[in-house]
Amino acid sequence: MRKHRASNTAKMVAYQRALGNLIPAVPGYSDPVAEQMLPKKWKKKVEKVKERLPASPFPFWFRGMGIFNQFRTVVLDNAITSGLPFEQLVILGAGFDGRAWRLPGLGNTSVFELDHPATQAIKRQRTQQRKPIAKEIHFVGIDFTSDDLSSKLDETGFGRNGKTFWLWEGVTMYLKPKEVSATLSSIAELSGRGSKLAFTYMGKKDGKVPASIFLRLIGEPIRSGYSNKEITEVAYESEWRLAENTGIEDWIRDLSPGLDLTERKVGMQWHERIAVAVKG
Ligand SMILES: C[S@@+](CC[C@H](N)C(=O)[O-])C[C@H]1O[C@@H](n2cnc3c(N)ncnc32)[C@H](O)[C@@H]1O
Repeated sequence: MRKHRASNTAKMVAYQRALGNLIPAVPGYSDPVAEQMLPKKWKKKVEKVKERLPASPFPFWFRGMGIFNQFRTVVLDNAITSGLPFEQLVILGAGFDGRAWRLPGLGNTSVFELDHPATQAIKRQRTQQRKPIAKEIHFVGIDFTSDDLSSKLDETGFGRNGKTFWLWEGVTMYLKPKEVSATLSSIAELSGRGSKLAFTYMGKKDGKVPASIFLRLIGEPIRSGYSNKEITEVAYESEWRLAENTGIEDWIRDLSPGLDLTERKVGMQWHERIAVAVKG
């Protein structure tokens, strides 16, 4: 992360979501808010695609990644809505996540969005005209590598021990293992009965964490990855019990059987997985 600049990966994934919303490839996918969050230059690109809608809204080189991220969105949306009702939804490393403005059922839920202040500043400005679905939104500026999550949340009216859903999408892989573990422990301590957590993490390929030269070049290298056994243990040590642990092959089978998506088309992100955990 370059601390004084908005996250590039947050912009990229929102750009993919905005393009994907033009012609969704995954049943249940919809993100009409993403386009509004984009920098002007990227928004213009989406508008251009809209004018002459091709068969696929994605340039060929990231079509696979774009579709992968639609699955990621749908699986996490389902995890959240099936966990309702809860008092608080905390989105760790929220980037340009639009759920507080688009996800049905959040009318009685307070949303806390945590991210680097640089990314958050842009988001606040781009969403100020849009009424959220959520009961209220609190923006909490944080650096997971150096700030104390509990005190940051305490400052904003977060209710310790409330029933909370924690969402951590597309972030753990940019943190070192000890930072991932520390965050898992902090949020477990802040969680009341019935709280849940959904997060994505980088799996391993042939026993190794996949690397990406591109991500390194844009200043957001991959720093952690886990096998299924390792993530189960790491979560358990922090008082989280994994209830689900799924990957792209499961999502294709369950949501869009027969879809022609391969590791070659998606790239390294093919190994990103989603874990859903309950406290205790
Ligand atoms: C790939 S983006 C994902 C954003 C969002 N969750 C989504 O899926 O659209 C990664 C996010 O993690 C945030 N992030 C990465 N490292 C962080 C850190 N050390 N402290 C706070 N936020 C961090 C970035 O600012 C960025 O918004």
